[in-house]
Amino acid sequence: MRLATLTSGGDCPGLNAVIRGIVRTASAEFGSTVVGYEDGWVGLMEDRRVDLYDDENIDRILLRGGTILGTGRLHPDKFKAGLDQIKANLADAKIDALIPIGGEGTLKGAKWLSDNGIPVVGVPKTIDNDVYGTDYTFGFDTAVAVATDAVDRLHTTAESHNRILIVEVMGRHVGWIALHAGLAGGAHYTVIPEVPFDIAEICKAMERRFQMGEKYGIIVVAEGAAPKEGTMELRSGGVDQFGHELFTGIGQQVADEIHARLGHDVRTTVLGHIQRGGTPTAFDRVLATRYGVRATRAVHEGKFGTCVALDGERIINIPLDVAVGHLKTVPLDRYTTAQAMFG
Ligand code: F6P
Repeated sequence: MRLATLTSGGDCPGLNAVIRGIVRTASAEFGSTVVGYEDGWVGLMEDRRVDLYDDENIDRILLRGGTILGTGRLHPDKFKAGLDQIKANLADAKIDALIPIGGEGTLKGAKWLSDNGIPVVGVPKTIDNDVYGTDYTFGFDTAVAVATDAVDRLHTTAESHNRILIVEVMGRHVGWIALHAGLAGGAHYTVIPEVPFDIAEICKAMERRFQMGEKYGIIVVAEGAAPKEGTMELRSGGVDQFGHELFTGIGQQVADEIHARLGHDVRTTVLGHIQRGGTPTAFDRVLATRYGVRATRAVHEGKFGTCVALDGERIINIPLDVAVGHLKTVPLDRYTTAQAMFG
């Protein structure tokens, strides 16, 4: 067979490990060849492709963050308008099946291509860990490790200065990174998009700490967190070209409000893209490699219209329909477990 792969959406540590898994499995197990399209769906539409060989270059990318193929975002309308071009390009390159690696948006695109007759097996990717139907997406563990390290480091400086420090982490719609980094780093409060926060409660928790002699506090805030209606004014930021709401710096706004209410010294650290950069953790390298191997086998087994997923200890294939049906949000009981450690 002749396979094609691409990486689309925000990058993520482990993408190269998936590509390596695909290329090596295709070659060693099936004698198949692999082509990579550059910059996600855009490269597929513009027919920008490179041959990927099972050689030492591919072998060495296991440790590299980012993606050797480049990535990009494409508006769904432009993507859909390019269907004929995509079909023509795949036919021209004699591609038998496509393995797109991406988050929810990419997997929606993969499903749409599959519905339109293109043989597709998807690989879920996102540091946010919000793809439905899979226990973990690769990149999440690395992002949590980075965020936890930041929280760890902030404890000592916060304590030295009797400050409240806010750490804003990624997570537009879901709070998995915030939840895990907050728990692992011993944060004194964590706010996530799934549970609107009450600033008065946060202030109470901080005040309690100061009254008990612990004169510092660490608060982890997911970038997509929002206050309970009517409890705090937020700046509004409009939307970007993809219809995503623009962030207005929730961490700083929480900091300003705590300072205004309690008078304590409050500072904010926004971790941003540091969480997406650098080499993947061992867990992410293993998971990403397993995804690449399974996706390649699934293509050769004809399991089209599916994506790979982690189910407990096993890597399985689930229908793309399931993966894109809705986001995997943090269940309330997981948040209440974290709450038990607040204060
Ligand atoms: O989806 C992954 C993610 O890292 C989100 O957590 C974050 O909101 C977004 O991508 C940032 O995207 P960009 O790279 O376009 O700033």
